[in-house]
Amino acid sequence: MWGGRFAGGPSAIMREINASIPFDKALWRQDIAASKAHVAMLAAQGIVSQDDAAAISGGLDTIAGEYEANGVPENWDLEDIHMVTESRLAELIGAAAGRLHTARSRNDQVATDFRLWVRDAIDQADQGLAALQRALVVRAGEHAGAIMPGFTHLQTAQPVTLGHHLMAYYEMTARDRSRFADCRARLNQSPLGSAALAGTGFPIDRQATARTLGFDAPGRNSLDGVSDRDFAIEYLTSAAQCSLHLSRLAEEFIIWASQPFGFVTLPDSLSTGSSIMPQKKNPDAAELVRGHSGRIVGALTSLLVTMKGLPLAYSKDMQDDKVPVFEAAGLLTLCLAAMTGMIEGATFRIERMRAAAELGYATATDLADWLVRQANIPFREAHHITGAAVKLAEANGLALDQLTIAQLQAIDPRIDERVFAALSVDASVASRASYGGTAPEQVRARVAEARTALGLE
Ligand code: ARG
Repeated sequence: MWGGRFAGGPSAIMREINASIPFDKALWRQDIAASKAHVAMLAAQGIVSQDDAAAISGGLDTIAGEYEANGVPENWDLEDIHMVTESRLAELIGAAAGRLHTARSRNDQVATDFRLWVRDAIDQADQGLAALQRALVVRAGEHAGAIMPGFTHLQTAQPVTLGHHLMAYYEMTARDRSRFADCRARLNQSPLGSAALAGTGFPIDRQATARTLGFDAPGRNSLDGVSDRDFAIEYLTSAAQCSLHLSRLAEEFIIWASQPFGFVTLPDSLSTGSSIMPQKKNPDAAELVRGHSGRIVGALTSLLVTMKGLPLAYSKDMQDDKVPVFEAAGLLTLCLAAMTGMIEGATFRIERMRAAAELGYATATDLADWLVRQANIPFREAHHITGAAVKLAEANGLALDQLTIAQLQAIDPRIDERVFAALSVDASVASRASYGGTAPEQVRARVAEARTALGLE
């Protein structure tokens, strides 16, 4: 298709290094849709005849049927999906096929196809995230009052509820969805009609092709149109951030499913066994979600480095934009589905969680707060007194509320019997009723809002 000025053909190495068809065949649906939009516009503008346009459009439909049934044939000589399709069109309808590429270049063609592909990937990520959020709010609602230890430094800190913990992931995934939505809004400008880099002398209608392809508007600068890959980078940034959240959730499930914790039994459907240790039930899906986040972050790094320092407009380096995006999108879809299944199918062992919260001096802050409120002691001093109580309890292998009033008063005489009401994990959790706090009533309020936002009500 470009051999006119060449005396010899490309070497085998040139063909191999040049070919993007092994991966860009994934763009075939977008390529056909964009070509149909383009040729309909060419006909409407009188740039090609109605007859030629009808033949081209019909041929493209035939090719779509062939690809659907048999896959896209890989021919390295034809380099990419654009040339494979155009060459098949020529076989099917003859010389009229050559009119399709009027007022167009592969540079604006690939930029258009890729935007359409990434737009679909964004919509798919949003659906996966919405499903995960539904699972989170359902389980959070069930366990709005179930007490577990809250951790900082992975050391027992203060009691929280399982519902509160799960709703933290609802917030993270809400930000993920909003990042994808922002990225989609900026992406949604059509590069088609930028042609090679400078626009075209043909009287094309860029508004029309933009409309047909569901873009909000044509892009305003043709050089930017063919050289911009911000949309792919933003998609990967959003995917990387989302995968980080999933990896944190996965890691918690891995820890919680370990025998010393025993906070959760993972669904059999998302676990594997060991070929040597019969007792093992391994959290492989969660571990792979944790691992795959590394590959998704790697995909972002790969595209960032590809684009760094490229001059305007198109450079062939940019052909390397697709593999990282395709890989990350496939991994993200899988990871979202795996974590959704994990949340839906997990058996939370809330009696173990509660026992762990009771054992870990999680209500020490409540004792200090009580001293501030009831005995008007400055918080720093209350902190010190409480530390002495924890030390004594620990030395005797007791929980804080198992110390006697005499033992507590020996530490500080201002403590009285009423303190025991503050030392239970239930009282502790119920007291944290500040907006966004872990009190069950707060968690239930946030769950209700989330259910409305998700259309579950
Ligand atoms: N296969 C190319 C890519 O994926 C299509 C654009 C080629 N343009 C060009 N002038 N060689 O980026």
